[in-house]
Amino acid sequence: PSGRVSLTVNGERHTVTVDNRTSLLDLLREHLDLTGSKKGCNAGACGACTVLVDGRQVNSCLTLAIRLEGAEVTTIEGLADGDELHPLQQAFIEQDAFQCGYCTPGQIMSGVGCIQEGHTGSKDEIREWMSGNICRCGCYVKIVRAVEQTAH
Ligand code: FES
Repeated sequence: PSGRVSLTVNGERHTVTVDNRTSLLDLLREHLDLTGSKKGCNAGACGACTVLVDGRQVNSCLTLAIRLEGAEVTTIEGLADGDELHPLQQAFIEQDAFQCGYCTPGQIMSGVGCIQEGHTGSKDEIREWMSGNICRCGCYVKIVRAVEQTAH
């Protein structure tokens, strides 16, 4: 079975017909051509697919698109303001907080959630908040530094 869902993605309203089993990640990547959110495990274990739904970070691979009627979704593509990067994107560059870059969109979206929700009191608190985002290159120290730099 399929159904229609209307939602806002990065400020743009979309109405799409999707199979009821379609994840938000597949909706973004396959229907809206927003391929910044990455499919790592497709099972909620890696965080590469992290986006914000109504300001809260979610694993988009575990979120059913059909349940998102009226939701506001922000992806990595929606963070920059024109040519101006979001401060956390800028901090990732300054801190050299990535190597292969595959996990980076999810790391940055989790970092934005971490900052917005005020969980940046210490490196440990940031680490705990970001613990669902796996980096195979092991850039954790610099990722935490980038979040810290942006928050303070
Ligand atoms: Fe969603 Fe890994 S792809 S958590």
